Amino acid sequence: MNHTDHQAPGSSRISGTMNQLKVVAINASPHKDNGNTALILGPFLEGMKEAGAEVQIFYTNNLKVNPCRGDVICFCRKSGRCIQSDDMDWLVPKARDADVLVFASPIYTDGVTGPMKMVIDRLVPLITMPIEVHEGHCRHVPRDEKVRKIVFASNCGLWEKDNFDPAIAHMKAIARNINAEFVGALIRPHGMLMNQAMELGLAVDEILSAARQAGHELAITGTIADSTLDAISRDLLPRDQYMIHVNHVCAGLCERLGNEN
Ligand SMILES: Cc1cc2nc3c(=O)[nH]c(=O)nc-3n(C[C@H](O)[C@H](O)[C@H](O)COP(=O)(O)O)c2cc1C
Repeated sequence: MNHTDHQAPGSSRISGTMNQLKVVAINASPHKDNGNTALILGPFLEGMKEAGAEVQIFYTNNLKVNPCRGDVICFCRKSGRCIQSDDMDWLVPKARDADVLVFASPIYTDGVTGPMKMVIDRLVPLITMPIEVHEGHCRHVPRDEKVRKIVFASNCGLWEKDNFDPAIAHMKAIARNINAEFVGALIRPHGMLMNQAMELGLAVDEILSAARQAGHELAITGTIADSTLDAISRDLLPRDQYMIHVNHVCAGLCERLGNEN
């Protein structure tokens, strides 16, 4: 596997130091670096690198990850190794070693993409088979003592921010159940506008700066301010105008693609 495939655009890995924050990001957009998810994820990761973090990015489209077989062998093994052999062989140890996990995915049918869910299912070796009560709630005993941080980065085609609610609820539940801290969600509603924003004369610079700022804040303080997250998700166009724009773009797309059998 060519790992340089997975490097963030224009990035170079910062060489390791003892206390360097280790960040593992997984981008599950099939459009990889050319997608709208990457538009927010890119500056966020750059912000963390500028603040001294070691950042590695992986694209589900470049990975071979089989679906979980549900045999619970990884749960039971001391090593946590899955019986299958694929790219999770090395991604699980990387995730275990990480201080911050960034799950980046566009919204597909009100959740993360299928490949992202497959990776998350296969991260189940982060926990073990026995269950315990933690803060009044049952969960599996974590495999490691370390409390990792989880960030969700996403964009969606529809206009309202509440389109992210199911995916954010899912991320919070994952964090609770794998002994991680959910730090926040970088969400970009009507994200399809970001690519065309310059042409349309919309100011996206503040959004990209806020994403970079979020990276700085997380690397330096361990949290991201609500005001920074709000700046990332702020409205770009009133809903009525967005609908006119999207329906116009989609009509053109279907005209081009829809004539084929
Ligand atoms: C199969 C499919 C399902 C989608 N479902 C939703 C959805 O439920 N809600 C939404 O707002 N956008 C939905 N979208 C739109 C994507 O979230 C949007 O196109 C996004 O910008 C894609 O990000 P990317 O460029 O990083 O791949 C869907 C797109 C596809 C292809």
